[in-house]
Amino acid sequence: VTRAAAAASRALAMPIRVLILGSGAREHALALAIADSPLLDALFALPGNPGIAEVATCLPGNALDADAVLAAAREHRIDLVVVGPEAPLVAGIADALRANGVRVFGPSKAAAELEGSKAFCKRFMKRFGIPTSGFEIFDDADRAAAHLRACGRPMVVKADGIAAGKGVVVADSVEEGVAAIDDMMRRRSFGEAGARVVIEERVAGTEISFHAVCDGERFVTLADAQDHKRIFEGDRGPNTGGMGAYSPTPFVDAAMTRKIVRRVIEPAVAGMREIGVPFTGALFAGLMLGAPEDDGLPSISVLEFNARFGDPETAVLLARFAGDVLALLDAAARGRLDALDASATAVRDDAALAVVVAAAGYPASPRVGDPIEGLAAARAVEGVTVLQAGTARRAGELVSAGGRVLCVTARGGDLPAAAARAYAAVDQLRLAGSQHRRDIGARAGLAR
Ligand SMILES: Nc1ncnc2c1ncn2[C@@H]1O[C@H](COP(=O)(O)OP(=O)(O)O)[C@@H](O)[C@H]1O
Ligand SMILES: [Mg+2]
Repeated sequence: VTRAAAAASRALAMPIRVLILGSGAREHALALAIADSPLLDALFALPGNPGIAEVATCLPGNALDADAVLAAAREHRIDLVVVGPEAPLVAGIADALRANGVRVFGPSKAAAELEGSKAFCKRFMKRFGIPTSGFEIFDDADRAAAHLRACGRPMVVKADGIAAGKGVVVADSVEEGVAAIDDMMRRRSFGEAGARVVIEERVAGTEISFHAVCDGERFVTLADAQDHKRIFEGDRGPNTGGMGAYSPTPFVDAAMTRKIVRRVIEPAVAGMREIGVPFTGALFAGLMLGAPEDDGLPSISVLEFNARFGDPETAVLLARFAGDVLALLDAAARGRLDALDASATAVRDDAALAVVVAAAGYPASPRVGDPIEGLAAARAVEGVTVLQAGTARRAGELVSAGGRVLCVTARGGDLPAAAARAYAAVDQLRLAGSQHRRDIGARAGLAR
């Protein structure tokens, strides 16, 4: 494309005024990518964070408050709202905006049930032949416990609703499973989210994340990635929101990508259309890859679908995305992914790796208010972007303000190169008591 042609197509395209909902590293990564787009007119975030504020106007408010979001969209003449987290989607923010003529990247409340209700998700997968482990659904604690005892082997107990990533117990014994049922269904540790539970078969294998951007009818796949959910190295300790990610993984080659698309993504997008709730937004499949099947490729078991981009996966996926992220999200929101050409959706043949720097006490009780130093030096490392999550400005100084504080993301020609850069940047940072894993990417063979 010549310069003149590019300029002409820019002039023809309507500049887009964008509002991003959310305040994490995922939203910071989206903001940076969108800020780079020639299609952008103005960028806002609600509530955003100090990192996002470097490229967007941050608006005060709560993304769960539909009236406040709608008012902000009106005031700032927003064309497109990009919804980061699941909670506003499950609460119906996309419906409220669409009803008022605002384009939205994110599924309707009904389509977000794919993430908002594990029972809905499992029934959906069963109906459309998407590979997932066997399951039963219970509204009654006694029946659930009786079922578990009758199974007599370790099972997985999942609260039906959104439980901040804490509603799943991979039980090693029947008793542990029964205790989880008591906790969720009788003590209501996760409120109404635990009124119903899914009890499913445990599956073994390698867990990966696979993302597709969907327009209700069509989809564009991003790369595969792997998250690191446990707080400590060697995948020990309690689960977190995610301590780091990398892409690509050694577990998904081109043939495996095609298999995931054929067995998981295609039937999910088609199935949602068929039941009258077309899915628009980021479809994020959590997959367990098992032993090779007759086709010579690993088996697939879908652990869950999420109805938004993963965090920290987004950091590494967008780092490798070669196209225009705003063009992609806007085309999806318009139901027009077919209008994009292949170059607009290409993924680079390189690698990215992200290391989360978490606060002292995370995940149980993160300490806040500690000064963050060394940011400029970390950002100066080649190929590195320091995404902000739980940060705040206090008298001009950047301080920690949440569990996951920073997400240090590096690009490289290959994973070792990306890892070297990411850790070189992490080593420049100082945050009292902070925690990070040195073994991000270890499952891909990266030595630390
Ligand atoms: N059927 C299963 N067999 C083995 N492990 C599972 C199974 N289902 C979930 N897990 C583990 O539990 C984690 C959380 O489950 P998931 O369904 O992704 O729920 P959520 O992300 O909402 O907490 C998964 O990342 C996976 O490690
Ligand atoms: Mg999950």
